[in-house]
Amino acid sequence: MKEKLQGILQAAREQLAAAADARALDEARVKFLGKKGELTALLKGMKDVAPEERPAVGQMINDVRAEIESVIEKQKEAIEQAALAHKLESETLDVTLPGEEVVIGKKHPLNIVLDELKEIFIGLGFSIAEGPEVELDHYNFEALNIPKDHPARDTQDTFYVSDNVVLRTQTSPMQVRTMEQKKPPIRIIAPGRVYRSDAVDATHSPLFHQIEGLVVDKGIRMSDLKGILELFAKKLYGEDTVVRFRPHHFPFTEPSAEMDIQCYRCHGAGCPLCKGEGWIEILGCGMVHPKVLEVSGIDPEEYSGYAFGIGLERTVMGRFKIDDIRLFYENDVRFLHQF
Ligand code: DAH
Repeated sequence: MKEKLQGILQAAREQLAAAADARALDEARVKFLGKKGELTALLKGMKDVAPEERPAVGQMINDVRAEIESVIEKQKEAIEQAALAHKLESETLDVTLPGEEVVIGKKHPLNIVLDELKEIFIGLGFSIAEGPEVELDHYNFEALNIPKDHPARDTQDTFYVSDNVVLRTQTSPMQVRTMEQKKPPIRIIAPGRVYRSDAVDATHSPLFHQIEGLVVDKGIRMSDLKGILELFAKKLYGEDTVVRFRPHHFPFTEPSAEMDIQCYRCHGAGCPLCKGEGWIEILGCGMVHPKVLEVSGIDPEEYSGYAFGIGLERTVMGRFKIDDIRLFYENDVRFLHQF
């Protein structure tokens, strides 16, 4: 028995010393100490040992078990030490190396200004509405007092999905959609993408953005429109901004106007930025046409309203002195990182 135990101990020592990693170590442990291990087999054979020898044999087996356990413990430490040493060696850190640049994205210039614009209008009590870019001809044209043969359709040629479905050419359909869904008082802005079948050049793109505004309530007058839009221009372009309203024509507002701001570079004298005009056009506006109120289910005898449409690209180009609309959509980070 004694020799047998010595043999096991010897074999365990050799095998454990050769175990180079945690897995090999565990395999050796199972082999010698596990349920089906060699020592356990010996313990099971105790019944064949003479009763008077059993305590001594039991003691021997336990001693060998304790010895093997301590060898396992030591080998485990040795393996861990070796792993740590290897890790330290392979992960040398040169603190004098320059740091790696972390590239962080930035807000697109169109979104910078759009977010500012939303803030301004939310501060003035407006809420934000959204509508479909693929729009029914009815909302994009017909309900806005632009029937099939109206010349205004020529300037807003678009992409037809079918005879009655178009990519919206303006955010103005949101006027009708909003009035159909909500009872006055209404105070919304509706920003979004619009499409026109225009050839691409420095100032035209088949896709661009507008922000529609609509206010409908009892007793809304042109002076309300002028007040709000002047306030908006001052908040966006600075307190000293001068605005003017020029009469214009839009089929869905009456009377209609365009609002200009005095050129912030030359203050009205005329310069290349304002093309010598002294003024820069920033939006179209007017009192909602009674016909438009009516198709939208609002009684023009009881309510009146104003609407406006701001071109986002034009506003941002003026703001950041960008002279080519294509830059917005090319996703060139050298451009985008400047804002
Ligand atoms: N939808 C017009 C356009 O694209 C802009 C516009 C003008 C919107 C007058 C309005 C408005 O709401 O009242 O040219």
